[in-house]
Amino acid sequence: MSKYAHIIASGSYLPEKALTNKELEKTVDTSDEWIYQRSGIRQRHIAAEGELTSDMAIIAAKRALEQVGLKPSDIDGIIVATTTPDHTFPSTAVIVQAGIGASVGLAFDVQAVCAGFIYALSTANGLIHTGQAKRMLVIGAEKISSIINWKDRTTCVLFGDGAGAVILEARETQEEKPSKGVISTHLYADGSFKDALYTDGGVGLSGGSGHIVMNGREVYKQAVNLMSDAVNKALEYNNLQSSDIDWLVPHQANIRIIESTAKKLGVPMERVVVTVHNHGNTSAASIPLALDEAIRSGKMKPGQLALLEALGGGLTWGSALIRL
Ligand code: ACO
Repeated sequence: MSKYAHIIASGSYLPEKALTNKELEKTVDTSDEWIYQRSGIRQRHIAAEGELTSDMAIIAAKRALEQVGLKPSDIDGIIVATTTPDHTFPSTAVIVQAGIGASVGLAFDVQAVCAGFIYALSTANGLIHTGQAKRMLVIGAEKISSIINWKDRTTCVLFGDGAGAVILEARETQEEKPSKGVISTHLYADGSFKDALYTDGGVGLSGGSGHIVMNGREVYKQAVNLMSDAVNKALEYNNLQSSDIDWLVPHQANIRIIESTAKKLGVPMERVVVTVHNHGNTSAASIPLALDEAIRSGKMKPGQLALLEALGGGLTWGSALIRL
């Protein structure tokens, strides 16, 4: 008998305000056509004034709990992947813990930018395997609008706010290696690319958060190769072909990156979950948002195999193979 982490629920939240490309045309020198052709984005959601990362995370968490009729006290671990915490400290995870009324358990944030959810999922999976936690809430939540320079057209058109959550539950299996739940995760980082995507300030550097600065071409070039590598590592490790995968759930940064990666892997676009046109790039929230949308719409079904992949600032990247 061995333990594995089953994914028992998902939930998500998008702020009410949808900011369209047409609206952005009024504030920066851009066009709907340029944005859509280069990124596939038509709109992104933007948090209301005073609406914080934790507020969005709490709603996503409550929706996941409601989906399976669990009480907050059934949760004994919370990890929030975020780059845009409410405070420098305490972590957004403890604010979520208090906000949903969960019992005392472990709670902390993970910061791996757009790859944050994969890092958080991997960490939660490890905590379940070692018996540290029985039910983990894993959340990706971002108020990325608060670190955008709204005058910089090269970045401000790409990002959006939101939150997504999954609940992992410890289950027993006779198998040596689980074939359900979180099957494997592969995490990577290469700090030599730290200047390709960063904020021009920070707690230590400027006392503030700074704003996103990006070398778009460099990130694009690395994204396709590194994410494909991470997916191939997952396939090799599990002795699978890309044709065995029911769904590819990529980080939603840019439709061109998503299409190129899918093509490189030989996965037809009908088996790729795409939400970037409506969500923009919500950083750590993008994968759980896409996952929840695919599950709730009935597209992704229990028993299906999905490969999640992401890359973000750092560079950090990784993949996770899951079976619902
Ligand atoms: N509207 C109109 N024109 C613009 C805009 C805009 N919003 N932004 C830039 N331009 C202009 C540039 O100034 C440039 O003009 P110039 O030729 O007169 O100098 C021209 O458009 C082309 O700019 P490039 O940067 O070369 O455009 P490119 O085709 O590379 O597309 C983009 C830019 C969309 C950012 C692309 O490089 C990309 O997708 N990169 C990946 C970055 C990404 O997705 N980052 C997200 C975070 S990391 C992650 O999540 C994976």
